[in-house]
Amino acid sequence: MPQLRKQITDAVNFLRTKTQSQPAIGIILGTGLGGLVHEIQIETVIDYSEIPHFPLSTVESHKGKLIFGTLGGKKVVVMQGRFHYYEGYTMQQVTFPVRVMKFLGVNTLLISNAAGGMNPLFAKGDIMMITDHINLLGDNPLIGQNDEDLGPRFPDMSEPYSKELSHLADSVAIDLGIRLQKGVFVAVSGPNLETRAEYRFLRGIGADVVGMSTVPEAIVAVHMSMRTLGFSIVTDECFPDALKPADLDEIIKVANATEPKLTAIMKNVVSRLQ
Ligand code: HPA
Repeated sequence: MPQLRKQITDAVNFLRTKTQSQPAIGIILGTGLGGLVHEIQIETVIDYSEIPHFPLSTVESHKGKLIFGTLGGKKVVVMQGRFHYYEGYTMQQVTFPVRVMKFLGVNTLLISNAAGGMNPLFAKGDIMMITDHINLLGDNPLIGQNDEDLGPRFPDMSEPYSKELSHLADSVAIDLGIRLQKGVFVAVSGPNLETRAEYRFLRGIGADVVGMSTVPEAIVAVHMSMRTLGFSIVTDECFPDALKPADLDEIIKVANATEPKLTAIMKNVVSRLQ
């Protein structure tokens, strides 16, 4: 058996000693977005540190727990805290949990993140549904030998974020009276924030928001034929000609303040998922 598949099997076998839950929905919670967890009827919580081959989260604002439970009447598995490329993990490590989720039975993946807004029509505290992405991480989780049993060598990327799920999220947001922006997410490695020249460039190549996550997980979700829905919380305004110094505390504050709206959207999307 190829090594990656063996590692996935190890992790799944371990998790099966802790829970028999068969979630079809997986959720990855980004920076400052852990509050969705309070909406879950929790059945099982497992520290990442216990799971074979799971990397350890090094960022303080990420908790590092895999949570099994029920949200909006559906079985879910939730990553409270994710892994970032800038922490020094390989792309394969960053995306390993997504592969494990797939083998647990997940076919729908909801991803959230905090991002810098570059579209001048976006404001701090807006939620953007990701319609497409640009990978500027300079790396790719699919590099290396391909395991055809996991997915194709050359996955199609014409619709990395499910149109069907996006339509659902749109109607949920309308029903809840929450403004939902739409746009393109560009992923950079970080960990530094961008220069004015970089924001100008990123906006110029067609991105609406910029962040340091999500794209690796979305690529692997496509590779494994999962449907994906992604949301960014605009935590800071990155307008190159009026740029203020970034403040990480403020970014987390905005994420926390906006989170109830995103939580409401995600919970209602989950409850209406077919
Ligand atoms: N750039 C990259 N990542 C981010 C930003 C940003 O401006 N804001 C929040 N995450």
